[in-house]
Amino acid sequence: MKAHSFVTKIYESQITFDHKKLMQVIKKEKMEKFPYMKTTYFKEKNILLKKEFKFLLDSCQKFYQEVAGDNQYASWRIIMSWIQRYDKGNFHDTHIHSTSPQYWSFVFYLDCNEDSSKTIVLEPGYPYIDERKRVAIKPKIGGCVAFPGYVPHFVEPNINNKRVVLSSNLQFYKEKGGHDGEKKLRAQFEDNKIKEDK
Ligand SMILES: [Fe+2]
Repeated sequence: MKAHSFVTKIYESQITFDHKKLMQVIKKEKMEKFPYMKTTYFKEKNILLKKEFKFLLDSCQKFYQEVAGDNQYASWRIIMSWIQRYDKGNFHDTHIHSTSPQYWSFVFYLDCNEDSSKTIVLEPGYPYIDERKRVAIKPKIGGCVAFPGYVPHFVEPNINNKRVVLSSNLQFYKEKGGHDGEKKLRAQFEDNKIKEDK
């Protein structure tokens, strides 16, 4: 007998950054209320490319690179990035980010403590496919997780007031040049800005 299976990779790792500095920078960002949490998403579509966040982007890049490399991608581009704050009782119900296989979701835990709610990753195809398999990611400062954009996930209701995450969507490329370093990222950011201003 021969058995075949499909594998979906969910990566977890850890990055380091100046936490105190980051909290000061985030304080200045306007968070808008989405029904069940606060977000910068509506105000700024790629917050990680702002100058003030460069030190955080530098830390995130190592994880981006690692995940891309492990999936035989040669380059990547940050399509969107935003910060979300979960106050007491806040949550995020089940969703996916994209159906494109080259589109990956990344979450970085920027501020949290022992009680902060977990991110629950479900099987691809959920709820049509449900073998009751779940991956629970417990937040810790600097912790990060990545999975393909088509993987459903949700955030459990938070029981404290300490849970801040950076979410980002990346497009991966098989060929080099999708990401040409900071200069191109910066140009991309300016380009997005101009479009938004119009
Ligand atoms: Fe998400």
